[in-house]
Amino acid sequence: MLGNTKVTVIGGGHVGESCTFILAVKDLVNEVVMIDIKENMPQGKALDMMQAGPIMGYDTRVTGSNDFASMQGSDIVIMTAGFPRKPGMTREDLIGQNAPIMKSVAEQIKEYAPDSIVIVVSNPLDAMTYMCKKITGFPDHRIIGQAGVLDSTRFMAFLGMETGVSIKNITGMTLGSHGDDMVPLSRFSLVGGRPTQEVVEKDKLDAIISRTKKGGGEIVKLMGTSAYWAPAAGTILMAESILLDKKMILPCHARLNGEYGIEGLFVGVPVQLG
Ligand code: LAC
Repeated sequence: MLGNTKVTVIGGGHVGESCTFILAVKDLVNEVVMIDIKENMPQGKALDMMQAGPIMGYDTRVTGSNDFASMQGSDIVIMTAGFPRKPGMTREDLIGQNAPIMKSVAEQIKEYAPDSIVIVVSNPLDAMTYMCKKITGFPDHRIIGQAGVLDSTRFMAFLGMETGVSIKNITGMTLGSHGDDMVPLSRFSLVGGRPTQEVVEKDKLDAIISRTKKGGGEIVKLMGTSAYWAPAAGTILMAESILLDKKMILPCHARLNGEYGIEGLFVGVPVQLG
């Protein structure tokens, strides 16, 4: 995208601030606005990131705001607001708390950034993407959910840890729901160009697949809250492919209209982002 590019990140929690920082460090856009309802918090975090710029070498203008009107003119809106999981919770357990937040934010996006592309990160992702579509009424290609990139990078990280091979030689694909029944596709995941089954013993590969499926929960159990570095890295990879029109094929939640026999739901599938 040429000209003044702008991304809004909704939510100044761990995921929102990590998205904002990674985006700034990549120096991809002119402006990132982080919006949160908590007074002064996004402004303080944004100022801190502006002050890291001279050292990290980015020109990205980072601002914080409590006003949803600040998202005006955004090319991309990244929705991270909502409660994270606590130990013992499934992502679906968050629906009661996060659905009202998604509803009000989607209404604001519709009003202030009607031409934006929305990347939804909030959980439960399958339901939140669907809700965002329903409320904004945006065309299908302008609502995408981040989950598959995260689930796939976990799969790749575990494959790297098991084999000792550079992550640069590993590709991974995880599709379906962003829940414990997600589908890591070992046949389409490669170590040094070879399908994982040819490189990793079956019981070890089974353990990696199972660990990938429960990868979010493993971190919640350790930290008492949800992961944020890998989710943010995945989100910004998606934003980068869109902003630079890279046409990367990434696993993302997209609304299906008969593909794979599914009608009207958001599911993780390979998506070309440009
Ligand atoms: C996870 C949460 C963010 O998988 O859904 O870590």
